[in-house]
Amino acid sequence: MKVLVTGGAGYIGSHTCLALLELGYDVVAVDNFCNSSPESLKRVEELTGKKVPLYGIDVRDEAALDRVFKEHEIGCAIHFAGLKAVGESVEKPLSYYENNLLSTMTLLKVMGKNGVKKIVFSSSATVYSTENVMPLNETGRMGCTNPYGWTKFMCEEIIRDYAKADPEWSAVLLRYFNPVGAHPSGRIGEAPNGIPNNLMPFITQTACGVRKELVVFGDDYPTHDGTCVRDYIHVMDLAEGHAAAIDYLMAHTGTEVFNLGTGVGYSVLDMVKAFEEVNGLQLPHRIGPRRPGDIAVCYADPTKSRALLHWTAKRTLKDMCADAWHWQQLNPRGYEA
Ligand code: NAD
Ligand code: WQD
Repeated sequence: MKVLVTGGAGYIGSHTCLALLELGYDVVAVDNFCNSSPESLKRVEELTGKKVPLYGIDVRDEAALDRVFKEHEIGCAIHFAGLKAVGESVEKPLSYYENNLLSTMTLLKVMGKNGVKKIVFSSSATVYSTENVMPLNETGRMGCTNPYGWTKFMCEEIIRDYAKADPEWSAVLLRYFNPVGAHPSGRIGEAPNGIPNNLMPFITQTACGVRKELVVFGDDYPTHDGTCVRDYIHVMDLAEGHAAAIDYLMAHTGTEVFNLGTGVGYSVLDMVKAFEEVNGLQLPHRIGPRRPGDIAVCYADPTKSRALLHWTAKRTLKDMCADAWHWQQLNPRGYEA
């Protein structure tokens, strides 16, 4: 079966393309490269020995997207394309609503027009209200604290409504926790533009000297060492979760939502310690003030994914730290030559 992957050149998209190719799927990717480079998928082709037709188009361009569906017999779509920086979404809310909502609606429309009625959507743990108790399960109360989160919340609703209107539709909404790490080859990984948004790229960039030190955002939270706890998940586990979601799509109709997390939380200082130990280095770091908007603890209840997707995260914190560092060392400037 041929899978359309929007945002396929991005961090999670490229790893998912690789996982799908290795499982025997064909993949067609579209990406406007606003936060990625076509180089990632060239490397996926090298690693797998398979071709990935890649269209440099915006998902919001209905005519261009329709041509992709006309040129390929697509069985289902995975929709990664979107803007994802929380801070930027607060500064430029309209860009986020415009890009993330319109791309989702255009994709649904073009899929419907071409009779492709199966979609996996990249949602986020950020759609859960901060009032829930941990671990978070899929029935938790919803609510967001920033425009990025609301775009994910709204896209979930749009997909749900669209799928409800036609009983042949099947949709899987995947709520990711904190994706980190890279493919063990070190050929593909996370290549943030400019200043990173997330902890792991800050750690790896500090370790290689691009940054002077890591600032740990607060050590007075009610956790075992005072620093925030998150559910970090290896990007290859996440990629394999998408393959499991496709199996589910093929066997069901309607909309279902799943957490993709490990169910285990680690603190910022746990991450620093694990990174130092696994990679045999010292990471310059200091405690700074809290980051506004952070919650103390966030981790998944992965029971539903285990039971219905038959998927579980297998890789360890050591794997995450070793693979992230391997990628950073081999590609100090990401995909830039
Ligand atoms: P990424 O930025 O690396 O990948 C997104 C890709 O989409 C990029 O290649 C970008 O160029 C492309 N894109 C954006 N808008 C587009 C458009 N209108 N048309 C075509 N291409 C477009 O991000 P990622 O980390 O790989 O995230 C993938 C998805 O998962 C996103 O939807 C993100 O919101 C979601 N997600 C990510 C995380 C995370 O921490 N990385 C957590 C939860 C959810
Ligand atoms: C992790 C922990 C920081 C950087 C974000 C989005 C969420 C989802 C995943 C998309 C926190 C601490 C970080 C640093 C630090 N993305 N930290 N020093 O905030 O859990 O989630 O990414 O859907 O929507 O909000 O991830 O990687 O930013 O932070 O101490 O330099 O690391 O305070 O506790 P977060 P993160």
